Amino acid sequence: MRKPVIAGNWKMYKLVAESVATAIALRPLVANANHCEIVIAPPFTSLKAVADRLEGSNVGVAGQDCSTESKHGAHTGEVGADMLKDVGCSHVIVGHSERRQYYFESDAMANQKTLAALENGLSVILCVGETLAQREGRNAESVVRGQVEGGLRGLTSTDLARIIIAYEPVWAIGTGHTASPEQAQEMHAFIRRVLAERYSAELADAVRVLYGGSVKPDNIAGLMTKEDVDGALVGGASLDAETFAQIVNYNA
Ligand code: PGA
Repeated sequence: MRKPVIAGNWKMYKLVAESVATAIALRPLVANANHCEIVIAPPFTSLKAVADRLEGSNVGVAGQDCSTESKHGAHTGEVGADMLKDVGCSHVIVGHSERRQYYFESDAMANQKTLAALENGLSVILCVGETLAQREGRNAESVVRGQVEGGLRGLTSTDLARIIIAYEPVWAIGTGHTASPEQAQEMHAFIRRVLAERYSAELADAVRVLYGGSVKPDNIAGLMTKEDVDGALVGGASLDAETFAQIVNYNA
């Protein structure tokens, strides 16, 4: 049995005070949600304050990105995985489509970031997903395969236990066009097959594959009925504590 993960990605929203207020509001609303793991990813500048406020709760904190470099050094502007760990993060998001699209991040970079995160004791939420043109060109599976295989290059079976995959079709992010539960299921099952080829059916079976892209309180339950959908990575709808709590409590 895979324990679902509901993760919220706050992107470049919220100053420290607002981040803390949202975290404080969220904490009691999800305190009884034992059916899933809950993670929120505030901007870097709010991580410490939010992690402090969530200490001892069932809400974990994630960085939205980390450096490809795992050792301290002259890397202006970079935030190391150990620095995320140091301020209380348990997870880090790697390879988000906005990083790939706007900051030209490659699968090789996602791979280096993943390795750096694992080396520093973080769990990784590796994002993959095709663009609309790639889907229309019938290349969705080959693109996603490349992102999964590229992102996980060199990872051992033990490492895989700390990997969560987030399937986020680019055409569904922030657009209001959610993938249908069937579309999500199809790609999630494909991702699991790719993992089974690379590792084993047993190990692939244990990996949580989240769906992301316009997840809202009114579509989460439908997505969660699908066998290979093990949770969600939520952007816009995670910014408000009550809305995000409704998504977390999709089974209530
Ligand atoms: P969205 O974003 O829920 O606002 O579509 C999802 C994401 O980018 O992770």
